[in-house]
Amino acid sequence: MRKVILSMIAGAVFMVSCGPKSVAVTGPKYTASEQLTQGKTIFENSCSRCHKLPNPVKHDDQGWIKTLSRMAPKAKLSDEQHQMVYDYLISVNKK
Ligand code: HEC
Repeated sequence: MRKVILSMIAGAVFMVSCGPKSVAVTGPKYTASEQLTQGKTIFENSCSRCHKLPNPVKHDDQGWIKTLSRMAPKAKLSDEQHQMVYDYLISVNKK
């Protein structure tokens, strides 16, 4: 019985600690032009497969965190690619 309770606690802790980490990108990371250029290329190649390329000004920095966390898995981006696309988008989204 003790084992069952312990594993239930461990399970609950695991689920809680996993929660926020599933959002790979939570803010800016890269500012170097090399990564931003790469982000642009990935964006143009990967994000136009299912719909027209969205205009980067469509979302502010916070909005792109949310949208990309839904779209990056659709585009099968790695965490690194996801980050570079995010950094590219927020480098050009200012109106
Ligand atoms: C596998 C197909 C697919 C790929 C690849 C894809 N999207 Fe989407 N996208 C959709 C679908 C379907 C919708 C409409 C439904 C929805 O909003 O979830 C959408 C909606 C959107 C929207 C409008 C909704 C919003 O939150 O503003 C934006 C912006 C967007 N996608 C950006 C992107 C970006 C950026 C990428 C590249 C990382 C991308 N998408 C890749 C399928 C895709």
